[in-house]
Amino acid sequence: MDNPFNRDAENLGNVTGLEHLNVEIPDQGIASDFYLLGMGFTRDPYLFPGTNNMWVNIGKNQIHMPKGEPLVFRGHIAIVSPDREALLDRLTGVKKQLADTKFKFKEHNEYVGVSCPWGNKFHVYNPDPERFGKINLGIPYVEFTVPEGTAKGIARFYRKMLGALTCIEKNGEGKAAHIKVGPHQELIFRETDKKIPEFDGHHLQVYVEDFGKPHEKLRKLDLITEESDRCQYRFEDIVDLDTGKVLFTIEHEVRSMTHPLYNRPLVNRNPSQTNRNYVMGGDAWVPTLPDTVGPSGASPDPLKAPKAPTIAKRRSPAPDRGLARRLRWRWPRLARGSSRSTSMSAPRCVSPRQSAAMPWVSPAT
Ligand SMILES: [Fe+2]
Repeated sequence: MDNPFNRDAENLGNVTGLEHLNVEIPDQGIASDFYLLGMGFTRDPYLFPGTNNMWVNIGKNQIHMPKGEPLVFRGHIAIVSPDREALLDRLTGVKKQLADTKFKFKEHNEYVGVSCPWGNKFHVYNPDPERFGKINLGIPYVEFTVPEGTAKGIARFYRKMLGALTCIEKNGEGKAAHIKVGPHQELIFRETDKKIPEFDGHHLQVYVEDFGKPHEKLRKLDLITEESDRCQYRFEDIVDLDTGKVLFTIEHEVRSMTHPLYNRPLVNRNPSQTNRNYVMGGDAWVPTLPDTVGPSGASPDPLKAPKAPTIAKRRSPAPDRGLARRLRWRWPRLARGSSRSTSMSAPRCVSPRQSAAMPWVSPAT
């Protein structure tokens, strides 16, 4: 059968999602002015409602902020956020209360560069289906600056230890390792000849499908730093698998997909909604764009459409009336659903995606 689809383009590898980043902050009031008022994000209303920690929702992602000495990611965090003009208005609106901090922002063609009150850098992009898929609000990538000569070894580490898909990019900005960590999500490790600050203890969290094998491999190299609980462990060092030399350090919180918080629904408010300009039903910010899987198979001329029973007959094995009766008795919905689903034609094409064009290398190679 002809296949018009690139099936590999939908592969994620073993790392199935980057969910949250974690930085400590010394002042929740300043953090609220920046992250909630300025950036337009939403404080998690359910977990950590007190003054010792705050979780901030960004679409399907979060930044966790326990109280403490400020921690800073060594690179930048990409954000997809709709409506650049509204973002610039909000950031302008918090200038006064954040005047004595490291807060600043600058508009570039591609993104708005923003520094948080303690120096974490954000690149805020408009939604871009070709580049970021269906993300309307979220974190599509985190980019780290790493020492020269380490990108290839870092990619190999993620491929062999975590089972991630990786690729190496070389362009005018230098050499970079790309690690696929979710649908349209990446960690990027870009080489630089500039001085890199010491690691200060911040972390990122990923979900993995195979939870046990990476743990066993990391344990054999004595890289596990915390056996957190049934569904989570941590490691920090990314090492050269031939020499054991530490290439880069960033704490990873690795969770199984059976973790109770996996795929937890997150509340995202619409920051344009105000009590002076209120839209009924407009309180929520939608984190995703439409994500097509191709045409539904509907015919422009229904009279010439293939007849459903013919298709169903061609695709189904010879009917087992006894089995159908048993299925109806035990699982009536399943029996009805399966007969209906066979009437659908296969979709014919999908939108091109940037990730399909990347030369991803799988762990088996
Ligand atoms: Fe965490």
